[in-house]
Amino acid sequence: MRSIEEEMKGKVAIVTGGNTGIGYGCAKVFLEAGMNVVIAARREEKGQQAAAELNKLGGGECTFFKCDVSDHEQVKALVDFTVEKYGRLDTMVNNAGYNPLHFDACDMSIESYQQVLATNLMGEFYGCKYAIPHLRKTKGSIINMSSILSKVGQEQTAGYSSTKGGINSMTQTIAIEEARHGVRVNAICPGHIMTEIVYKEMERNADPQAYLDRCNHYSWLGRGGQPEEVGTAALFLASSWASYITGVTLNVSGGMEFGTIPKYYAFDESNEKMKEMGEAGAAEGICQQ
Ligand SMILES: NC(=O)c1ccc[n+]([C@@H]2O[C@H](COP(=O)([O-])OP(=O)(O)OC[C@H]3O[C@@H](n4cnc5c(N)ncnc54)[C@H](OP(=O)(O)O)[C@@H]3O)[C@@H](O)[C@H]2O)c1
Repeated sequence: MRSIEEEMKGKVAIVTGGNTGIGYGCAKVFLEAGMNVVIAARREEKGQQAAAELNKLGGGECTFFKCDVSDHEQVKALVDFTVEKYGRLDTMVNNAGYNPLHFDACDMSIESYQQVLATNLMGEFYGCKYAIPHLRKTKGSIINMSSILSKVGQEQTAGYSSTKGGINSMTQTIAIEEARHGVRVNAICPGHIMTEIVYKEMERNADPQAYLDRCNHYSWLGRGGQPEEVGTAALFLASSWASYITGVTLNVSGGMEFGTIPKYYAFDESNEKMKEMGEAGAAEGICQQ
């Protein structure tokens, strides 16, 4: 079997939101595998800077294209630009997204809800819609960036979580439609990945260090993930190593979806104390976490 690098060398990817964070991590891994990558986002300076850094890696070529994914005409222009420049499109990573300020649903403004839908969900739909005709020609694939919050609940994220649940359903539907054309469509559900999204949440928190500690505790691996760890999952899904995988929502989360209460029960220092207190005391201790 050919290595992933042998297969992907010279192939072409678009990564929306590729100027920072997870998108940057995906672009980096793709470029190291020899792919040519167009990264797209709104901030021109940050995008050009990211492309220049990524071009120093010495793999494929990276180009920045300014694009707001909430505008379907700009997403079409992004896809047209890529195909004109490289003559093909093999991988579409719909990754651009954000998490708005947290409010209970009843306090969330209508505008905030509509905006997060327009970027996270509709933006990914536009990316699928305009990439598909080109992906049918190359038998390429789509990777939609979802979130573990599409599968586990978190308070005050009604807008964000709705978009990620929608992305999972959209991924499954388009996977079925495109199977007959040889195009695979998958989603990745990251847990806590150490990017601007997480750092912004930290800043908003009254106790940033406690927030960071909680993020690390959420993962059974005891740490937040790195953007490149999502990138390697994306490269795998894009390659023929995943040739029989379509419509999946792949967790890249350090196992955080399994919950933290059993973890605290097993490893928390107070566990010994709880045992001393007997069964009733232990139950009380768990509830306090
Ligand atoms: N980090 C995590 O823990 C985590 C967990 C689960 C899911 N995710 C998902 O992973 C994806 C990337 O997040 P990240 O953590 O890497 O965050 P990030 O570092 O803040 O990156 C977000 C990227 O999206 C771009 N973007 C935002 N709105 C855009 C728009 N309207 N049009 C074009 N580009 C836009 C941003 O660039 P500009 O501002 O320059 O446009 C930036 O490049 C998101 O879909 C997020 O929901 C992240």
